[in-house]
Amino acid sequence: MPIVLIHCKPPRVRRSRRRMINGDGSVRCAPEVDCSCLHGPRTRLAALVDQVPTYDPAGVAAYYDRLGDAAWNRFDQTLGDRISLALHTEAVERAVPHASRVLEIGAGPGRFTEVLHGLGCRITVGDLSATQLDLNRQHADARGFAASIEARHQLDICDLSRFGEASFDAVVALGGPLSYVFDQRDRAVAECRRVLRPGGVLLASVMSLWGAAHRHLSDVLALGSAASDDVVHSGDVNTMTVPGSTHPCHRFRANELRDLLERHNLTDIEVSASSALSTGIPASLVAPGTQQWTTLLALERAACAEPGYRDAGTHLIAVARRPSAST
Ligand SMILES: C[S@@+](CC[C@H](N)C(=O)[O-])C[C@H]1O[C@@H](n2cnc3c(N)ncnc32)[C@H](O)[C@@H]1O
Repeated sequence: MPIVLIHCKPPRVRRSRRRMINGDGSVRCAPEVDCSCLHGPRTRLAALVDQVPTYDPAGVAAYYDRLGDAAWNRFDQTLGDRISLALHTEAVERAVPHASRVLEIGAGPGRFTEVLHGLGCRITVGDLSATQLDLNRQHADARGFAASIEARHQLDICDLSRFGEASFDAVVALGGPLSYVFDQRDRAVAECRRVLRPGGVLLASVMSLWGAAHRHLSDVLALGSAASDDVVHSGDVNTMTVPGSTHPCHRFRANELRDLLERHNLTDIEVSASSALSTGIPASLVAPGTQQWTTLLALERAACAEPGYRDAGTHLIAVARRPSAST
């Protein structure tokens, strides 16, 4: 982005609405606009650096190092979270071929490493966070899925250069690696595609703009209209749009995710929601294993694939394929 000489204005209460278009068509605030309004007077350079929503791998790794094993429990809170676990699990079982060679990126503590083990896959586990890799090892040992893991690497989805072209039958990146990389998302998808064999499958889930707003509505309302307007316009949650935010990520719209995958010449793309009817509903409404749970799950399977509901879950789940005849 060109750096333009600007004059930092004194702090002000109201935020400007000037926007810039990102390479992928999404919109962000113009960097010269808010240089003093969010954090008080500051140097121009510091303001610019703080306001461009660039990817911060060290920050993401530190966040997940701190989060520790809470990443395992993230599906255990609301009814929608439980449905999300069930639908993510079904997506893995449907998309990933049995006994295939899989690269799981952002594996975290291993919820889906265990599912891949159940499919008889040979799994290479990758994650940015050293703590999450260690938790993955601990869960694998304790729960009996260690035998399926061929290797563990501390790695970034944006740089898979340690793996050769066409090394894997499937790449699985669930729970948001593509949401954390902001302006590097094209590089990340290109890397996933490169390491897939022709005909191989990419399964990814990312944070959803509207579903997350639904799930965390009270937090959104507490932000006030300027910040929530900025998040809605850009999809970016970071210190520029939400001052003081500690969990920077990009929240996608379903069409935006599809466009990203299409741009990289991936085919057979399917995008669905991770939950729809039950997003944000208390877990006490329906207990797993009951007839009501079976009914709800069937309704959710149908609703999450409906165009009108794709943006309703906390996550968007996407499946895509590298074309068989591709180079
Ligand atoms: C919400 S957790 C998901 C864990 C697991 N896949 C799941 O769905 O339960 C996100 C994981 O992705 C990892 N991660 C985030 N950005 C990444 C990146 N750029 N490359 C590799 N891993 C990343 C984090 O360290 C974290 O362990």
